[in-house]
Amino acid sequence: MKIYKAKDYEHLSQIAANILAAQVTLKPDSVLGLSTGQTPIGTYKKLVEKYKSGDLCFNKVVGINLDEYYGLGADNPQSYAYFMNNNLFNHVNINTENVHIPNGLSQDIFAECTRYDEVIAKNPIDIQLLGIGSNGHIGFNEPDAELKLNTHYITLAKATIDTNKRYFKNEYEVPKMAYTMGIKQIMHAKKILLLASGESKAEILRKAFKGSLTTNVPASLLQMHRNLIIVGDEAALKGVF
Ligand code: GLP
Repeated sequence: MKIYKAKDYEHLSQIAANILAAQVTLKPDSVLGLSTGQTPIGTYKKLVEKYKSGDLCFNKVVGINLDEYYGLGADNPQSYAYFMNNNLFNHVNINTENVHIPNGLSQDIFAECTRYDEVIAKNPIDIQLLGIGSNGHIGFNEPDAELKLNTHYITLAKATIDTNKRYFKNEYEVPKMAYTMGIKQIMHAKKILLLASGESKAEILRKAFKGSLTTNVPASLLQMHRNLIIVGDEAALKGVF
């Protein structure tokens, strides 16, 4: 496990973008596992800046997103597809055929999960960008007695709905279900880059990385990954590392 302690969010974003940019520079056809949420926004901004200044090219990059709300399509501003277009894809020269996100509008759950499993099997992930949910979820792999290995459809935990309702008009508008990559697929990424910012993440980081492995804190399983990089700001890492 490698830990980078950033002084603040800006610095964290710079470090994370540098790591992703190095990956793409060394391997232009890298498969990037991508994530959403507040945390990676600054990283995407820096990647866009690097692209615009001519330092980075995405034309061979493949993007595979972790998850998507069930029932939301790319034209819905709350969807993760919209988020990715808005924060990254619309601003760089990534090939739209190389962009993969679970289709939140697919009602055929089995077909959608199978389709996404095939996408991941065909495109082994070089580096998976991750955030951590307030309850320790990664992607939308929620705490439970058992965790699923592959792409699945999941009922969101109450804590997740409570945390994510800030993006919606009210909690009733937050989808209760989602598609997410499974734990095995995340763990099979060659590298994992976990970002955490702000003091609200310190407690869950402590549980995930200073305690035993437990499916009740899905991020704790990342302790088993051979190539885990954590970039956190001082507030998030305080009392943890
Ligand atoms: C969502 C996403 C996760 C993300 C988490 C943390 O629930 N499904 O992939 O890591 O939020 O988000 P934030 O970065 O806003 O704290």
